Amino acid sequence: MTAAYQKACRARVDACLERFFQPPQDDLARLYQAMRYSVMNGGKRVRPILVYAACEALGGDAEQADNAACAVELIHAYSLVHDDLPAMDDDDLRRGQPTTHKAFDEAAAILAGDGLQSLAFSVLAEPSAPSAETRLRMLTTLARAAGPEGMVGGQAIDLESVGRQIDQRALESMHRHKTGALIEASVCLGALASGRADDAALAALQTYARAIGLAFQVQDDILDVESDTATLGKTQGKDQAQDKPTYPALLGLEPAKAYALDLRDQALAALEAFGERAEPLRDIARFIVERRS
Ligand code: IPE
Ligand code: IPE
Ligand code: MG
Ligand code: MG
Ligand code: MG
Repeated sequence: MTAAYQKACRARVDACLERFFQPPQDDLARLYQAMRYSVMNGGKRVRPILVYAACEALGGDAEQADNAACAVELIHAYSLVHDDLPAMDDDDLRRGQPTTHKAFDEAAAILAGDGLQSLAFSVLAEPSAPSAETRLRMLTTLARAAGPEGMVGGQAIDLESVGRQIDQRALESMHRHKTGALIEASVCLGALASGRADDAALAALQTYARAIGLAFQVQDDILDVESDTATLGKTQGKDQAQDKPTYPALLGLEPAKAYALDLRDQALAALEAFGERAEPLRDIARFIVERRS
């Protein structure tokens, strides 16, 4: 079930994403090529899958979630392009291929990231099934999650923490911002896109999403230690090489793994009141801590 569901969502969002990369005029060909390169390169699409799964958990249809699914992946892809830049993590490999600034150049990567970010907000604003009021709420949710209160803030904390000792509270805050916020927003956007989200459902889904959002980055840190470059599609061991604050560095590898499993269980507990339709969300919670890449 997990693999088939994820594969179907991946194919669905990939088909929707293709439409963003047709250059409107010839002299924009390289910019569009760099944007396309940064998105259509085999990501796991966890955030779009969460959008679809949250929408379906409330009885919505996948079509209602397409725009939000594209928006979160566009923001995520932009965040990776910038994360890999020499001024940030300085990585050469992403999703098994040269990073965007390696395949193109730094300026092209910066602009590709900027372009992807703008595309994310414009697709979310497009007229679609939820009311204009709901779309506004979705836009605000994504803007907060992506911006200085969310991902960008987390990236700033990450870079300021390099080489410094930070305690578990500070590490948790960094992870919740840099990775958790966009994952939380994905679940929230999916729920809102269904047009059927009441306050109780949103609160339960938020508890679920906070737990998997943190678990996702804890597992990312674990994989940086114990996976390998070929499986990861990004350079293994970078966190230690760059003296990044991570869960394995702070707690040790085994306690970090136990923490990830605990977060998974918290996420599953938050879905207790949901029936069969939330099974994809449960599967994703398990997948996040079991994944090898
Ligand atoms: C990697 O995200 C960066 C983090 C936020 C931890 P993913 O592991 O979702 O990367 P892709 O999209 O599958 O390449
Ligand atoms: C990235 O965290 C979080 C983002 C907002 C992109 P990492 O720096 O750990 O992500 P990877 O390991 O390079 O994918
Ligand atoms: Mg980083
Ligand atoms: Mg990085
Ligand atoms: Mg990492």
